[in-house]
Amino acid sequence: MDARTKTDHPAERVAHLRAEIERHDHLYYVMDEPAISDAAYDALMNELKRLEAEHPELVTPDSPTQRVGGKPAEGFKKAQHSRPMLSLDNAYSVEELTDWDRRVRELAGGLPVNYVAELKLDGLSVALRYEPAAHGGARLAAGITRGDGQTGEDVTSNIRTIRSVPLNIGAQRLKKAGMPAGFEVRGEVVMPAAAFTRLNEEREQQGLPAAVNPRNAAAGTLRTLEPSIVAQRRLDFYAYFLLIDGEYMAAGQQATLDALAALGFRVNPRRKLVANVEEMRSFIDGAEAEREKLGYEIDGVVLKVDAHATQLRLGYTGRAPRWAIAYKFTAKSGVTQMHGIKVQVGRTGKLTPVAELEPVFIGGTTVSRATLHNADFIERLGVKPGDWVKVERGGDVIPKVVEVVHDAEHPRGKLRFSFPLDCPECQSAVVRAEGEVDYRCVNADCPAKLRESLLHFGGRTVMNIEGFGDAVVGQVLENGFAKSVADVYLLRSDELALLKKEVTRKKKDGSTETKLERLLAPVQVSRLLDQIERSKQAGLARVLMGLGIRFVGERTAELLAQEFGSIDALMEANAEELERVEEVGPNISQAIQEFFAQPKNRALVEHLRAAGVDMTAEKKQRSTQLAGLTFVLTGTLPTMTRDEAKSKIEAAGGKTAGSVSKKTSYVVAGEEAGSKLDKARELNVPVLDEAGLMQLLTGEARAE
Ligand code: IVH
Repeated sequence: MDARTKTDHPAERVAHLRAEIERHDHLYYVMDEPAISDAAYDALMNELKRLEAEHPELVTPDSPTQRVGGKPAEGFKKAQHSRPMLSLDNAYSVEELTDWDRRVRELAGGLPVNYVAELKLDGLSVALRYEPAAHGGARLAAGITRGDGQTGEDVTSNIRTIRSVPLNIGAQRLKKAGMPAGFEVRGEVVMPAAAFTRLNEEREQQGLPAAVNPRNAAAGTLRTLEPSIVAQRRLDFYAYFLLIDGEYMAAGQQATLDALAALGFRVNPRRKLVANVEEMRSFIDGAEAEREKLGYEIDGVVLKVDAHATQLRLGYTGRAPRWAIAYKFTAKSGVTQMHGIKVQVGRTGKLTPVAELEPVFIGGTTVSRATLHNADFIERLGVKPGDWVKVERGGDVIPKVVEVVHDAEHPRGKLRFSFPLDCPECQSAVVRAEGEVDYRCVNADCPAKLRESLLHFGGRTVMNIEGFGDAVVGQVLENGFAKSVADVYLLRSDELALLKKEVTRKKKDGSTETKLERLLAPVQVSRLLDQIERSKQAGLARVLMGLGIRFVGERTAELLAQEFGSIDALMEANAEELERVEEVGPNISQAIQEFFAQPKNRALVEHLRAAGVDMTAEKKQRSTQLAGLTFVLTGTLPTMTRDEAKSKIEAAGGKTAGSVSKKTSYVVAGEEAGSKLDKARELNVPVLDEAGLMQLLTGEARAE
């Protein structure tokens, strides 16, 4: 920020800041080439927020400050598409592609036939309308779902939260791309794999059933009435289609994709001009091989005739263009017989039914077990032991049963299954809390819980104790060497040397003999002890995960560790202090407090401490967003109590005061504000409403 720009007229400065932020958003979210540090970016954003708070008349819906999501919507308005949003015909084999290619060439009547091969993203298509803006460029005017292809829903406020969707496109960029300021971009909204995993972790924490796949999750998210929730879900948008005045770009698909990229949209880099079926095939093979590594789901490859003239000649059938086809990957699923259902007890006591299957080869691995999720799911499918089932392996590796297959070759099973009312490991009664889908064993001493807790504690994402797997843990428990996770640190080499395994050998006479042998050779014992010793330095976040506090997964543990810096500070924290941590709401804060209220858990912490486990973390610098600013609160705010507003301001580094003076930075006024408001006007102190305050407070950290 130099002296010259600082003295700009606020409107000019706001425009300058927005253009800069948009340029950096594009570099960061679309090009993956950040050009400034997060701190420098935050400084730009904070200055913009401050200016907008001071000059509310300058706030526009397409300001980058609005990406965090505006007001909840009451419902979505219907919107007519400028041109129908069509579907694609499918091909499932190279033969079908060959037929299609032949038809295309016949119908093209000698016009050039090349194809653009693109990935078929498994999301949902949307149309984005851009209009001429006052700045000479274009601005996002509307985002509309596909709907029935003719009419969709106007989900603009949700689309605005997607960081890779440009809210404004500068005049220069338009000119360079040779574009007018009014046009429509179509493409696919997807939920990246990482965002999907995170969403399901959160849903699990809240006791909600997991979202089935990223596509449904993306669709559900786009139809959420709360844009601030949409903003947190980290949707992404890939552009593949451009309409100007309801017409297609002149040259063809390849030129369209180039123009979209030049306009600042994210265009999938995996695309290729192919000349024949052979080249299509090698693109498809490549896509299939890369599928797992993309970080988002695809379900095939789309082939589009490149030249626009040829596209026009080919035209459309009722529902799809003749010039494009979707080659669909064969689903990663298989059909096999389910011999039985085993109910497993997890670390938290959660009971998970698992189908025991006749081994079947799916997507490169042999699958002999698949999850059946919960009792409700079993009931919904009506699945019984002996049934034939369809098993799918999604991107998330854990295979799952998706349906019962029943026809002449696949008779129904005859056996009955009822979900156990007692824990299969300790026989104590199981409970299902109201509003939850899972049954749990609530016996604190259930051996299965201890076994799973130990395995979790030593796991790679927790204390990372290599060599502390099923066999060792099983034997440690059988010998009574551990009663809690802290006992891991008391294991001695002579104890580890006693662990056994069963070994079966064939004797010369053909008979077999089973003997117990040492599980760990001396060198393995000392290696394991080294690993255990090393894990003491894993730090507070890992320990918090290892303790098994309900709802506290990797991310929450990390945030708690950064906030409190030590287990002692965390154990002392009250609800208000806990809830100051991002992502910690009443449920999590209650779970943490309940955990540390139990003497047994406090003792566990003390045992870990005595063993020399490091339970500290580097504290994150407190937010300095509002540092140096003093606020005076007056009147009744619409959703927050005055104390809440005060603690929010303080958490962001600001101060609050009781009376208005020249030193007051802002007065936050609610209903029936009295003399303090008059005083503010008299002294020219800027006045904010609750929304204005929230604007200053939110979005302080930039998305990762
Ligand atoms: S072009 C008129 N390109 O697939 C042609 N569609 O099965 C319109 N899709 O509704 C679509 N990736 O939601 C096109 N690279 C891509 C695509 C793609 C995914 C979706 C799209 C469409 C559906 C048709």
